[in-house]
Amino acid sequence: MSENKRLGVLTGGGDAPGLNPAIRGVFYKASELGYEIVGLRDGWKGLLEKDAIPLTKEEVDAALTKGGTILGSSRTNPYNREGGKELAEKNFHELGLNALIAIGGEDTLGVAGQLVRDFRLPINGVPKTIDFDVPETDFTLGFFTALEVTTDVLERLQDTARSHHRVMVLEVMGRHAGWLGLFTAVAGGADYVLVPEKKANIDDLVLKVKQAVSNKGFAVVVVSEGAVLDESMLKDRPVDEFGHVQLGGMGEVVASFLEKQLNMEVKAVILGHAQRGGKPSVLDRILPQLQAIKAVEWLHDGQTGVLAAYREGSIKPIDLTKVVGKNRPLPESLINDFSVFFRG
Ligand code: F6P
Repeated sequence: MSENKRLGVLTGGGDAPGLNPAIRGVFYKASELGYEIVGLRDGWKGLLEKDAIPLTKEEVDAALTKGGTILGSSRTNPYNREGGKELAEKNFHELGLNALIAIGGEDTLGVAGQLVRDFRLPINGVPKTIDFDVPETDFTLGFFTALEVTTDVLERLQDTARSHHRVMVLEVMGRHAGWLGLFTAVAGGADYVLVPEKKANIDDLVLKVKQAVSNKGFAVVVVSEGAVLDESMLKDRPVDEFGHVQLGGMGEVVASFLEKQLNMEVKAVILGHAQRGGKPSVLDRILPQLQAIKAVEWLHDGQTGVLAAYREGSIKPIDLTKVVGKNRPLPESLINDFSVFFRG
């Protein structure tokens, strides 16, 4: 690498606790290797608009324990805009970047993979999403912090459901994958769970909830937002730049369905964006910093176009093109193993 090396870092897609620790890892390693570090604001939008800010050690240190991202985020997709990918390449050079770290989920990393493929830009990725569904990695920053939040809420709902002899439905995020839904239900002891990977068995759901009500006087059901009980709900919903339908509201559908079936009061709680906020857990501070350090180190050594994936106990470089257009659903075997808790 030449003198005056400049490394950019961006965070894209839905924010997640652990983004700031990842930025800090990037900053420390890149500084040690002699780079000037700039943050691109609001994901790929920052590259398209050449919106870059210098980062300081004080800023990244102060952000370590904070949720969200100090760089801002967006769902901007250069590949969905006329001339977007060419503009991204041009701006990369005009900003004087020698390297870029993209921290994001399947969409943000997918763009990184395409820019590497189309222009050979030196970009590495760090996986993020509370949905836990980036392929090729067993860990995505944000998931375990979000799981603590969703599980805590489930426990609180059990207290109030027990007191009022009610059925309560908790909707959690998880667009294509039910990791957050299933793990919340198992960690918090829900009576039933609906996930996107498995077609809802309505008879099972009703039976299990009826049993819970008759045995203990209340029931709690967890629903992943991407679980589909009623397809008609998805019509006419807005889509983002990556073509994803904006979800939310399946908890209400399940609650009103159960209300009719059981002839009793059923309340829905849509947790929404609260589950993405809050300070990162210690795991969401340690692993993202390590992944970021490796992503920078590899870039510096000329190994580009890779994701710093956590697999089998260590951080491994995985070709970013393997991530483009894919996600990581719950394995059927895991759903089957945990189904012991949800059978009638
Ligand atoms: O980042 C993933 C995610 O949290 C999904 O679980 C959810 O469907 C989506 O983002 C919500 O997106 P937005 O923040 O744009 O409403």
